[in-house]
Amino acid sequence: MKRILLVVYLLSLTIGFAQKEVSIMPWPKSIETTSSKYGIDTSFHINVEGEVNDRIYKASTRFLRRLNDYTGAFIEQGYVNSTSNSTNPSLIITTKQVGELGIDMDESYELIVDANRIKINSNTDIGALRGLETLLQLVRYNEKSFYFTGVHIRDAPRFAWRGLMIDVARHYQPMDVLKRNLDAMAAVKMNVFHWHLTDDQGFRLESKKHPKLHELGSHGQFYTHEQIREIIQYALDRGIRVIPEIDVPGHASAILVAYPELASKEKMYTVEKYAGVFHPTLDPTNEKTYMVLEDLFSEIAMLFPDEYVHIGGDENEGKHWDENIKIQKFKERKGLKSNHDLQTHFNIRMQKILHKYHKKMIGWEEIISPQIEKSAIIHSWRGAHEGLPDGQSLINAVKLGYHTILSNGYYIDRMLPVEEHYLVDPIPVTSTLTREQEALILGGEATMWSELVTPLTIDSRIWPRTAAIAERFWSQKNIIDVEDMQRRLHKVNKCLEALGITHIRNRDVILRNITKSNNIEAISVLTRVCEPLKVYSRNAGGTEYQSYAPFTLFADACTADAADAKIFNKLVEQCITDPGNKRIKTQLQYYLQRWSVLYNNLKDFDNPIINEIKPIAKQLSEISYILNYFLKNNKLTSTQEEILKTTIQETKTPVADVELVVVSAFEKLIIHLKNQKKHTSN
Ligand code: ACM
Repeated sequence: MKRILLVVYLLSLTIGFAQKEVSIMPWPKSIETTSSKYGIDTSFHINVEGEVNDRIYKASTRFLRRLNDYTGAFIEQGYVNSTSNSTNPSLIITTKQVGELGIDMDESYELIVDANRIKINSNTDIGALRGLETLLQLVRYNEKSFYFTGVHIRDAPRFAWRGLMIDVARHYQPMDVLKRNLDAMAAVKMNVFHWHLTDDQGFRLESKKHPKLHELGSHGQFYTHEQIREIIQYALDRGIRVIPEIDVPGHASAILVAYPELASKEKMYTVEKYAGVFHPTLDPTNEKTYMVLEDLFSEIAMLFPDEYVHIGGDENEGKHWDENIKIQKFKERKGLKSNHDLQTHFNIRMQKILHKYHKKMIGWEEIISPQIEKSAIIHSWRGAHEGLPDGQSLINAVKLGYHTILSNGYYIDRMLPVEEHYLVDPIPVTSTLTREQEALILGGEATMWSELVTPLTIDSRIWPRTAAIAERFWSQKNIIDVEDMQRRLHKVNKCLEALGITHIRNRDVILRNITKSNNIEAISVLTRVCEPLKVYSRNAGGTEYQSYAPFTLFADACTADAADAKIFNKLVEQCITDPGNKRIKTQLQYYLQRWSVLYNNLKDFDNPIINEIKPIAKQLSEISYILNYFLKNNKLTSTQEEILKTTIQETKTPVADVELVVVSAFEKLIIHLKNQKKHTSN
């Protein structure tokens, strides 16, 4: 008996160990790891069986390419198709039916890897696609070979709606940007691409019925119907739904450039170039508004196969409604007491139009009203930043019986650290909702608003943080270990790059633009301790950056979660709790030494862009030099102490729209070293 217990104990140790070695993201619903390995070599072969369509063949072929590229294995099989099955396959994919994209789609799968064979079994081909992504994340290697880790996984998503919204209005994003982001979404099992197509700064879809909309509202940067179909097909091939958003009745400047007669205020309209909330609003009392919108939504209904269409509905302050006597009279006549009532009147008409074309409505949370039919989805976005309790609208919506999706907490344009997003659950932790109410929460969406992003930088604002959000939407509620998430995110980050995401390489492109040279070593060091200003303070008031401003500056090369700062900040915490640890001290000194020479290393670069950044480098170098001295000698001169104090103070005034994110760690370290000094001198 004792022996059996020992075996069980040792087995569980091995499993625990192996589990840690696995870097799947999003983490699966259930996983058993084994010590088996399936070796990858030139004979690797995929068979597809069961009820299949083209999608699984294409996905399997892409899988082969990616596996081949990663392992350099010169895999013989080039393509997977209806005639390519072999008698000795490595991987057998068996699916029972072709999946239909929608909120009820079955994405579950089972994945078994043992020494002899790999199997993916799923009800639908979409489940198999998810399984293929997991399998690719199981590739490991030693000095001799690449192999798949032995596992038995049973997986299914926790939420049906796992989205990424990309705003292509503030900055147009070319087709290749969208495609590579769809690839990345699929890699982390996201399944909804919410395409924010219109806003004050642009109307970006072709309208055949009202071509003035894209001709006058987009500066020539719009998607043709053909391109839209291409994106929808690309997404469909990856098991991703595409939800278009036409933001009405506010955020309407670009529409009103084409159709000023639909406006609530008579004036000249121009496509907006600044960021912010603007007053141009459609006139909900004008029948022509509904005629144009019906034409537009009928085109959209034809183009987009998904059953949902997003009508926006956010941030309509109704100023132009208040200023318009005709609209005021209309409100009186109809007994509409508030602008919200008037907007509901508009939304009811919108919902009717959508229903006529067999579509259901989604709108940002402002559309909520008991008169809106329950087929609508309420998209919750506001929170503490807007002076409201975080996610309150989500609770309100489900209590009224609406389906909802959550974006509050997933605003990746706010440039917050990954864990802040990761720990937000679509079902609030303090929820007192019933099971039925919780079931109305479909999931969530990360939102990539694009006031400050261009095709050059957008990937670095979306990834890798969105992979962690994707895990929140897919994985079980109890998967909340931030450290483990960071470990796995680090690995997934490399897969994202291999898929074509430019977040890592484009940093260097920007840095070369800053240094006007190939020598970017020193400035790279600085990007790893600086982050762009957060929560919209980079563009306070919305006027520093216009849509055509340069986004090739130091702040654009920096990202959330500055890598070295993360490590250094953690080392400082460790140093405080474990002051005798020499390894930690040495590591701290490594960074301080590196940073203390930084200013000197930047000295030879001389142009207005880089000169703007030099004060940060100077501050960092001065502080690091003194702290390094303090750490080594356990003492400070009074002059050093004075410099430390003033320089740390200086770092708190942002320069070049970035913040130095090691400052609070510096302050903690100084207090700690002073306490230690006191202790030793006592
Ligand atoms: C929004 O952020 N205005 C939905």
